[in-house]
Amino acid sequence: MASSEEINADMLGFWNGHGGRTWVERQAHTDTTLEPVIAALIAFAAPRKGERVLDVGCGCGAPTMDFARRVGASGRVVAIDISSPMLAEGQARAEGEGLSNIEWREADAASDTLEEYDLLTSAFGTMFFGDPVRAFANMRSAAAPGARMAIICWRSLAENPWMGVPMAAVARHLPPRPAPVPNAPGMFGFCDPEHVTAILTAAGWAPPTFRKLNLDLDIAAGRGLDEAVDQVTKIGAVNSWLRSQPPEIIATAVASLRQTLAEHTDGPNVRLPAAMWLIGSRPA
Ligand SMILES: C[S@@+](CC[C@H](N)C(=O)[O-])C[C@H]1O[C@@H](n2cnc3c(N)ncnc32)[C@H](O)[C@@H]1O
Repeated sequence: MASSEEINADMLGFWNGHGGRTWVERQAHTDTTLEPVIAALIAFAAPRKGERVLDVGCGCGAPTMDFARRVGASGRVVAIDISSPMLAEGQARAEGEGLSNIEWREADAASDTLEEYDLLTSAFGTMFFGDPVRAFANMRSAAAPGARMAIICWRSLAENPWMGVPMAAVARHLPPRPAPVPNAPGMFGFCDPEHVTAILTAAGWAPPTFRKLNLDLDIAAGRGLDEAVDQVTKIGAVNSWLRSQPPEIIATAVASLRQTLAEHTDGPNVRLPAAMWLIGSRPA
């Protein structure tokens, strides 16, 4: 596996390059798909009026803005991310909505000095660290007395047909790919509770709690089959597979994807099961 420095450099390049730009372009669609997920994270984290929230990997900021509304004018959210295009998008949206209690900061959660917080949260932003123990120790160092953590991460690919079904549909037409390394930084890097517990406890956090969250996600965002195909081919694992392929292979793979997703279409929706962990902890 690559060194932690190489992984961090790759992540910085990805989230400031193709990955970050695509997230900005697809933000409205992704936010609609993830709306029920973010509602579940908010309920789990239970932010209170006046609290100081640190949102790690805030991206284009849909969850950040929900947290900001919940803590109100007497509270604040520091939203950090390594992706400048995504931060710029989040900041513009928040200003458009008149939310003034968010500080948008380009910072690396793993190494930059962080401001004291009462609640550490993250929607799918903590699985990418080259050295996760160092990163969680750094976040731990800014926790106020009595602070808590409430984050959300994906469970395994096998438990997430919303991602696995499209991947299988295109994989039939593509050259074989190297088997994924278990627990490697990336989308499914926090799927194993034992691995996450080892990281958090080594970084000075209490043994975490894991609550299963199962939802059917509408990958069409209520906009029909064509939009679902568009979303899947433009963002995420399927996109990165297809990008390196010749046009005729892409055309065959996309046709197969469309046929597969049609089987899951219900009016304007294409719903497939998703499995997540809501992970809670406190400084040890
Ligand atoms: C899957 S996106 C999630 C974005 C957002 N939380 C949402 O739910 O829409 C993951 C985010 O984590 C950010 N990220 C990755 N590594 C990071 C790090 N070391 N420090 C801060 N943010 C990081 C990425 O730039 C990206 O915006």
